[in-house]
Amino acid sequence: MTILTETEQRTDHQPPGDNAVQVSNLVKTYQHPEDGTFNAVDGLSFEVAAGEVFGILGPNGAGKSTTLEIIEGLQAPTSGSTSVFGLDSQADNAAMKTRIGVQLQASSYFEYLTLEELLSLFGSFYPKALPAQELLDKVGLLGKRKALVGQLSGGQAQRFSIVAAMVNDPDIVFLDEPTTGLDPQARRNLWDLIRSINENDAKTVVMTTHYMEEAEELSHRVAIIDAGQIQALDTPVGLVNELATDHSVVFSSSGAITDGSLDELPAVTNVEQRSNGVHSYALATRSPQQTVPALFQLAALRRFEIDGLAVNAPTLEDVFLNVTGRRLRD
Ligand SMILES: Nc1ncnc2c1ncn2[C@@H]1O[C@H](COP(=O)(O)OP(=O)(O)O)[C@@H](O)[C@H]1O
Ligand SMILES: [Mg+2]
Repeated sequence: MTILTETEQRTDHQPPGDNAVQVSNLVKTYQHPEDGTFNAVDGLSFEVAAGEVFGILGPNGAGKSTTLEIIEGLQAPTSGSTSVFGLDSQADNAAMKTRIGVQLQASSYFEYLTLEELLSLFGSFYPKALPAQELLDKVGLLGKRKALVGQLSGGQAQRFSIVAAMVNDPDIVFLDEPTTGLDPQARRNLWDLIRSINENDAKTVVMTTHYMEEAEELSHRVAIIDAGQIQALDTPVGLVNELATDHSVVFSSSGAITDGSLDELPAVTNVEQRSNGVHSYALATRSPQQTVPALFQLAALRRFEIDGLAVNAPTLEDVFLNVTGRRLRD
């Protein structure tokens, strides 16, 4: 099922700016490990506007890296086409390379060169390059300029791999799962860096992730992809408003409510009893405003106390569940 939301269909809702990336009917066919072939990328079309942070969200194996590598000109498509700033990823590859920065998912660097030496070496591949010390300073690694990559923490290594994608001062940066495997603190540091690359350095950012919060936090627009196809594409808020329906109301009660009266409360679509020793419930509701007052009336009538009530708004996780029929992390 493909859901193109209302905003996605209206071209006047695209953010301002030129077209940075154009992907048209992209297909990549691979040999299946057991039998025949399959489409890892199965007819993708989307555009990224200049100045955007564009998130590609999907589970492992969705086709995110393959899509990025084709846009970057590192792989050829089976059919369809991609371009960056109007330069075809295949035909205009050399010209395109000077304008893009590429962070690979599994970066491996020469073991015996320091951070500073590596950046100078990468810079030498381009007609113009930024000074290594300026780059390291940008990501808080100036003090580590004589260190080897192997001596960095996970977060530092990720920051280095991002700045290594910026030696040629590109107009657009492609980041493939930049925070996978990092602890929450290091992840937040990286979010700040990615935001700064977009806002202060005015670079377009295309990033893949399988973290919902990350897509929600950083992206102006998000494409949810699954099995090589776009399932939904919009702003995070637009996706939640249009594709996630229910809030959840969670509470504990001093007495059991087993007679179905919770199901009868206005706007309630589902009742779940939590089995954690106390009488704890989660209600799915289309309208907490209708459900919550009615819940307190019911409590007063039955003479039970309600404790620890929380109302949770729907998230991108719910959107993902609605459009793909499963959770992102099973
Ligand atoms: N070179 C390849 N040969 C065969 N299958 C591949 C190759 N590269 C990726 N795949 C398969 O294509 C699918 C998409 O992979 P990938 O683009 O890496 O997904 P993601 O980055 O979203 O995890 C997966 O099923 C993967 O196993
Ligand atoms: Mg990948």
